[in-house]
Amino acid sequence: MSQNTLDYIDEHLDRFIEELKEFLRIPSISAQPEHTPDTRRAAEYVAAEASRIGLENAAVMETDGYPVVYADWLHAEGKPTVLIYGHYDVQPAEPLELWTSPAFQPEIRGEDIYARGSIDDKGQVHLHLKAIEAMLQTQGTLPVNVKLIIEGEEEVGSPNLVPFVVANRQLLRCDAVMISDTTMYDYDMPSITYGLRGLAYLELHVTGSDRDLHSGMFGGAIANPINAIAALIAKMKDENGRITLPGFYDDVIDVTPDERAELARLPYDPQTYPNMLGITTTTGEAGYTDLERLWARPTLDVCGIWGGYQGDGAKTVLPAKAGAKISMRLVANQSPLKVADQLREFVQANLPEGVRAEVIDLHGGPPALTPTDSAPVKAALVALEKAFGVKPFLIRSGGSIPIVADFERELEAPVVMMGFGLPDQNAHAPDEKMNLKNYHRGIKSAAHFLEEFAQA
Ligand code: BES
Ligand code: MN
Ligand code: MN
Repeated sequence: MSQNTLDYIDEHLDRFIEELKEFLRIPSISAQPEHTPDTRRAAEYVAAEASRIGLENAAVMETDGYPVVYADWLHAEGKPTVLIYGHYDVQPAEPLELWTSPAFQPEIRGEDIYARGSIDDKGQVHLHLKAIEAMLQTQGTLPVNVKLIIEGEEEVGSPNLVPFVVANRQLLRCDAVMISDTTMYDYDMPSITYGLRGLAYLELHVTGSDRDLHSGMFGGAIANPINAIAALIAKMKDENGRITLPGFYDDVIDVTPDERAELARLPYDPQTYPNMLGITTTTGEAGYTDLERLWARPTLDVCGIWGGYQGDGAKTVLPAKAGAKISMRLVANQSPLKVADQLREFVQANLPEGVRAEVIDLHGGPPALTPTDSAPVKAALVALEKAFGVKPFLIRSGGSIPIVADFERELEAPVVMMGFGLPDQNAHAPDEKMNLKNYHRGIKSAAHFLEEFAQA
């Protein structure tokens, strides 16, 4: 890497951060319809920025939902092509009162920049743009061909991206997909993520009587939908923490003994999560370590539940309805659609008497397990080592990026996930932050990657 490029990154860091703040001020919350204009504005911002730094053919490409931003630079003849993917949409900021500074007024405190989207994923998209800017400014050229594709619906399950990829296979043709939307294992432990969980997210509605009822006049003989939903949910796991939906584990690829040994080599302090999160202990499926539970085993969690009286004091009433949001994180080779059907069947087969149930599929995405010996992974390992000065780690993650498996299949290109987040950066929560030292090293990593991959 030319020293000029690295110097440029150091010298312009403060300006980069000011520009990142501009991006972070746009409340591009894809889940909230009132933020439609903002979300589209974020797409325009990325396209304009891509052009400004010297990428070509920048376009805001329409889909049936939020647009995909595309840009490229294709003048490295005979060199491979890297497709850089990320997302410009963010999660809702609620509960707003828990933020120390407002979610869309980025603020630097200590080594971190605080804002919704700072780490997930605007900061990580931005660091690639700045790496490209630094290379084009100092060298006038890039060592590989680059295509950029930044979407606006990742946080709502990327419903329109697969059709987009299928329709634009030619445009997106590449030799590797680079994604920075994951975490490092810990501070000063740069990491490549080779596994993601998938997701099936459903809503369960249980209905009893056609109106609320006096709990004394009717309780005991008339089914209570909240009791019914609680009974159903309790039955979905056994005493060993195993999910009881018939067939649920049929397609699960269990961790191999080799991988278990690899994972066991990662430094892991069982007090880390209790200390970080204010809990007494970690817990989960019997027979698996915490890292295996988080990365390589599926889950079933209730993410929301409602029904009945929620106000002050006691109200003696039987509710007519109850509901729950159920998230199942999946591992290779589970299918979100198949698992959703299994939940539907389970609910009907185990439904208590006197109530009806409906299961609504909200969204999902397949799990991914990418090879660790591909050319882009090797290049990224070298790049991280150069930028951080330490040997990087190979890790998996419990989160989901729905498009990863589709990229592998539709573009027939290896994916490399080089992420700069950290588990304590409050992604999706109040006080989301990005560590600016990692932003800085992330820019250098991204630049090193392009150079390393040029030699692949
Ligand atoms: N960047 C995350 C996924 C992630 C986080 C992967 C940390 C690895 C480590 C992404 O933006 C995300 O939040 N995905 C959603 C997907 C869902 C909406 C389909 C998720 O995991 O909840
Ligand atoms: Mn993300
Ligand atoms: Mn996210």
